[in-house]
Amino acid sequence: MSRKLFCLCNEVEESEVRKAIRKGELYFLPAVSEATGAGTGCGRCRSRIQELIDEEKKRLPAIRQLKLEF
Ligand code: FES
Repeated sequence: MSRKLFCLCNEVEESEVRKAIRKGELYFLPAVSEATGAGTGCGRCRSRIQELIDEEKKRLPAIRQLKLEF
C-alpha cells in the first residue's frame, strides 16, 4: 500500500491528520499543525488541512457543530 503524503515538507499523511482531528477533537488549524507537524513548513498544505477540518466538523452532530461556532 502506497503512502498518501499530505504535507510534503514534514512527510505527514492525510490519515494522520484526520486521526489527529478526530482523536483530539482539534477543529482549529494551529492545533492540528501543532499535533501533526503538517502545515509548519512552506504552508502550501494549510488550505487542505482546513478542508479536512471542515469535513470532519460536518461529521459531528449538529449540537457539537453549533458549540464550535461560538
Ligand atoms: S507541504 Fe505542508 S508545510 Fe509544506
